[in-house]
Amino acid sequence: MRVDVVSIFPDYLAALDLSLVGKARQRGLLDLRVHDLRDWTTDRHRTVDDTPFGGGAGMVMRPDVWGLAIDEVLGLPDGAGVRPGAHLIVPTPSGEVFTQRHAENLASAEQLVFACGRYEGIDARVAEHYRSAGVTVHELSIGDYVLNGGEVASLVMIEAVARLIPGMVGNPDSLVEESHGAAGLLEYPVYTKPPSWAELEIPEVLLSGHHAKIERWRRDRALERTAQRRPDMIAALDVASLDKHDLALLGELGWVPGPEGLVRA
Ligand code: ADE
Repeated sequence: MRVDVVSIFPDYLAALDLSLVGKARQRGLLDLRVHDLRDWTTDRHRTVDDTPFGGGAGMVMRPDVWGLAIDEVLGLPDGAGVRPGAHLIVPTPSGEVFTQRHAENLASAEQLVFACGRYEGIDARVAEHYRSAGVTVHELSIGDYVLNGGEVASLVMIEAVARLIPGMVGNPDSLVEESHGAAGLLEYPVYTKPPSWAELEIPEVLLSGHHAKIERWRRDRALERTAQRRPDMIAALDVASLDKHDLALLGELGWVPGPEGLVRA
């Protein structure tokens, strides 16, 4: 996969040299390039922003500078043609909320281009222009809070996507049961050695070697944890995916099947 990140603070993206993403770059699984937006400015002051039409506080990033940058990283000189399989991602607090489903979909893309805005954001015509040119454009937020720019949000999304690229994670089984996976539940609590620590013991069942009991215990803890921390995820469960035992436990936790999924009793 090729990933391009365009930013006025390319040094922010230095973390992409580290850990799993850094290794994937070294191994050639990921062709990741970070660009300085100011390389596409044409004036002496290397200007990337201007005041907002209609007035108001702050500055807005200019579409002409962004257009030159994005055309070049998309391989679209003079607006000619669109590289199939390219996605343009614009991190913004006003975007759709980024989830594991977005990460899964983006993991099979040929190219991802992240356009990191600063100030009050990027002129809205940039997303509109590339959408009409046939590029898949995603305006995505990483959560309901405001950052100073799209760089940290891009780091978050790149890490979430990169670990799903085939060959990236050493043991792909570790991707199967994690939080926000297909089961729609948060992950159960995990433990390792030593078996006794700070006067806290490992739950007995995990030392039993009884696989079916361990699986049941883990599912119960996942259901309890999800009900407590993320009731929205319980409400979104497909009732048909739940067994009798799941429904009994959820009943004890105050959830019963309604006409369209589980509701609070
Ligand atoms: N830029 C500023 N805040 C952001 C957020 N919450 N998500 C994505 N990009 C952002």
